[in-house]
Amino acid sequence: MEVISPKMGNYNLANYEETRKFFHWDEVKKVFSWSKTGNINIAYEAIDRHVEEGRGDKQALLYSDAHREETYTFSELKTLTNKAAHMFSKLGVTKGDRVFIFMPRSPELYVALLGAIKVGAVVGPLFEAFMKDAVKSRLEDSAAKMIVTTPDLITRVPVEELPHLETVILVGENIPDGHGYRSYYDEMNIASDRDEIIQWVDLEDGYVLHYTSGSTGKPKGVYHVHHAMIQQYQTANWVLDLKEDDIYWCTADPGWVTGTSYGIFGPWLSGVTNVVRGGRFSPDDWYQTLEKNKVTVWYSAPTAFRMLMGADPAILKKYDLSSVRHILSVGEPLNPEVVRWGYEVYQHRIHDTWWMTETGAMLICNYLAEPIKPGSMGKPLPGIEAAIINDHGEELPPYRMGHLAIKPGWPAMMRKIWNNDQKYNEYFAISGWYVSGDTAYKDEDGYFWFQGRNDDVIMTSGERVGPFEIESKLVEHPAVAEAGVIGKPDEIRGQIIKAFISLREGYEYSEELAKDIQAFIKTELSAHAVPREIECRDKLPKTRSGKIMRRVLKAWELNEPAGDLSTMED
Ligand code: WTA
Repeated sequence: MEVISPKMGNYNLANYEETRKFFHWDEVKKVFSWSKTGNINIAYEAIDRHVEEGRGDKQALLYSDAHREETYTFSELKTLTNKAAHMFSKLGVTKGDRVFIFMPRSPELYVALLGAIKVGAVVGPLFEAFMKDAVKSRLEDSAAKMIVTTPDLITRVPVEELPHLETVILVGENIPDGHGYRSYYDEMNIASDRDEIIQWVDLEDGYVLHYTSGSTGKPKGVYHVHHAMIQQYQTANWVLDLKEDDIYWCTADPGWVTGTSYGIFGPWLSGVTNVVRGGRFSPDDWYQTLEKNKVTVWYSAPTAFRMLMGADPAILKKYDLSSVRHILSVGEPLNPEVVRWGYEVYQHRIHDTWWMTETGAMLICNYLAEPIKPGSMGKPLPGIEAAIINDHGEELPPYRMGHLAIKPGWPAMMRKIWNNDQKYNEYFAISGWYVSGDTAYKDEDGYFWFQGRNDDVIMTSGERVGPFEIESKLVEHPAVAEAGVIGKPDEIRGQIIKAFISLREGYEYSEELAKDIQAFIKTELSAHAVPREIECRDKLPKTRSGKIMRRVLKAWELNEPAGDLSTMED
């Protein structure tokens, strides 16, 4: 068995087995102010606590994009997030209200998000690529009261069709007339920065709502509570190995859970300097970001590593990456060859971590002081009980494939699916285990090995896409009668989206039509939901009840046997 041994070092989690035996989550609470004051708010703990504890002048945020380069200390972020909190409060936001944030990465995004949480709001971060329908369904489902967006993106927010939406705050210089749009900069200018604005909450009160895709139905609002900070902090310590002087860069956007749990809270709850790079991926840009900021700990995703692996090796040679000491990955299976490549070119192991939007924080990981088996996701975090179970909830012995399941009760676990108790309960249908939807096995050393999803969720370029939302949109195109969407294996992107369609009477398939359909998805839903491949068939395989059988489409695509076809219409 191929194993990469740890390097010598002074790591936060030095003894995995011992820690596993004795650790209890309650120990972590001592870190936070509320153990002394009884007052809880995750935004306060992430920012203000450091000012109170004498770290106010430390750099908290190193922000850059193609046009801006700015740094903020914890004191400065405290002042700004207090102002944002006053702004939200003045405009009527109170505890529990849903406030959406829909904009590209910028310091304002981070300030607004934390400011809203300071007044007790539940923040819904939306990735900037979402188009009108995707934005609408999420704001509608959560009955959002307010949205913070930009003059560019406001055209994708159908304000008139959202009766609950009371206020729109625009971050930008030219504020269009109408709908009582508020200017972020004007409101912030006149806002007070006093602390009394902070709304103390309960550990079990919500702070973030991340919409994510399943295999059926609309995106689900995964609801997380302030309690998550316990695990975000502890995993930042054990897995990210964050220490006082680290400069940390998580490449994820706050529109996805990695970008909040580990792009905001993991580092800031730990009082660490956090790098945010706006704009899009390019190998030069990313290596430059590492070099320029002297990043020490880097958390990214397999797609990015595969693209870096595919880039001209001369690019890497241009940069001095000697500051980097620890590299991690999340979001999709991390291929063994990527781990080997990383070890060769960066001279560091890439540490895989497994978790989900629903789990709120890391659960199965590779640790600095432990051996890595390339291709394995690692071992459960101390305090976490993970198992491979069968359909009856029985634990399976090593090397048997089954459901990857977790014993409920970890601090960062979602507390509900917004407006959908039934969906929430479905996760726990097998003997009370949290069933992830991933298939895996465990080896004799307790390492977990990912095998696949057992539903139709597509992971493309590290983003989780539900086939249903795309299929529903495809059939809204005038030419499309039926549509079935699958993930097709792809070397760089993990999977790409492939759509099988049949056409309505009077339409004929052509390249041009395919392009038109792609453009339709891009403008109506989002760029990352566009099927890169479209294949037209006279008829799609369906069950007798009329459900498109994606399993059969997959078998067609991969030239594999389609399995049991007894439920298929003739
Ligand atoms: C997949 C991202 C293999 C998995 C934080 C999971 C992974 C889904 C890994 C959740 C990994 C995540 N190895 N697969 N290390 N990490 N996945 O909600 O299928 O965007 O169920 O959360 O991504 O994706 P989500």
